[in-house]
Amino acid sequence: MQKKWSTKLIHSDVKVPEGFRSLNTPVYRASTVLFPSAASVSDEWDQYEFGYTYGLYGTPTVMELAARICELEEGYRTLITPGGQSAISLINLALLRAGDHILVPHSIYAPNRLFASRMLRHFGVEVTFYDPNLGSRIDSLLKENTRLVWCESPGSVTMEVQDVPAICEAAHRAGALVVLDNTWAAGVLFDAFAHGVDITMQALTKYVGGHSDLLLGSVTARDKAVFDRLGMGQHLVGMAVSPDEASLALRGLKTMAVRLKAIEASALDLARWLATRPEVELVLHPVLEACPGHEFWKRDFSGSAGVFSIVLRREFSKEKVLSFVDSLELFEIGYSWAGVTSLAVAYDFQGNKDRPHYGHRIVRLNIGLEDVEDLRQDLAQALATMQ
Ligand SMILES: Cc1ncc(COP(=O)(O)O)c(C=O)c1O
Repeated sequence: MQKKWSTKLIHSDVKVPEGFRSLNTPVYRASTVLFPSAASVSDEWDQYEFGYTYGLYGTPTVMELAARICELEEGYRTLITPGGQSAISLINLALLRAGDHILVPHSIYAPNRLFASRMLRHFGVEVTFYDPNLGSRIDSLLKENTRLVWCESPGSVTMEVQDVPAICEAAHRAGALVVLDNTWAAGVLFDAFAHGVDITMQALTKYVGGHSDLLLGSVTARDKAVFDRLGMGQHLVGMAVSPDEASLALRGLKTMAVRLKAIEASALDLARWLATRPEVELVLHPVLEACPGHEFWKRDFSGSAGVFSIVLRREFSKEKVLSFVDSLELFEIGYSWAGVTSLAVAYDFQGNKDRPHYGHRIVRLNIGLEDVEDLRQDLAQALATMQ
């Protein structure tokens, strides 16, 4: 067919050499996916079953990332979401309905708690918050209509390591599924499915991305029945993921082992040193005995990450704690964690009767890839300003 130049802009006849092989997964950008014939058109979401149908359900770049996360977590299949928080909301939206009951630990990531108390209650789901240290005693909170038990281990900021196998056993006896936020363990330092968990989610924003420049999440299911409910849910709420973000996460995965190893060593070194400092009352790092649930970390984890908290001594006012954080020169102040830059954020649990009594004295540290002696010196000079 003879084509005008404007048509050629859209329907070109050029050919480039074939056979190019890159080490990296190509970035496939697409909403429209082409079908070979009119009769083959379908808009099924499950592309493993039906082939590619629409960009919303995943391009090969996003599917590659999903399969890589699933391979590491050893689940049935994984969905990729636009962020960790959307992974949380997808699980709840896909699996719950009015009249159901869920259990959520006090120590869970704050927006997860808020999703339960604001959105789920609004939709008629009954929510009970529980002490993360309950272990098997959680059975007294399980009801006939309990569908989901959330866990996050260690918990956000207060770092309680949970007895996940005991919680799974109790939940399964009551017919409930267990969901774990496995972000701290990067999906690799805690083998969730081997310990009884049914669904995991991660903020890939953290260790998988690893460079503080992307937002992504993952949801991995133990079996097909749960995966199908989650996949249908993702399709209906329309949680699309950019292949560019997925490509960055695929790159992040390649260096995650070495980053985790270096970060683990520096974080442990600094945590142990901070525990000897007179200004510090408590170091909440799962590897240290003083951390609630340390025995479960020892029993169940194969390593530790670079995020932990310190509780400063009782005599320090809120102003002193904030000035300690402000005095840090290498540690930047900002949310999110697991990037290459060390971060510090002060929290204030005053007035929150369900969290441990650390008041305004708790500071969460994210250890990055700077030289550990420089980080120690920075912490030492900032602690010295408190005296
Ligand atoms: C434990 C945990 N889960 C989930 C999230 C949410 O991830 P995102 O920021 O990608 O929405 C975060 C973010 O800080 C987190 O710390």
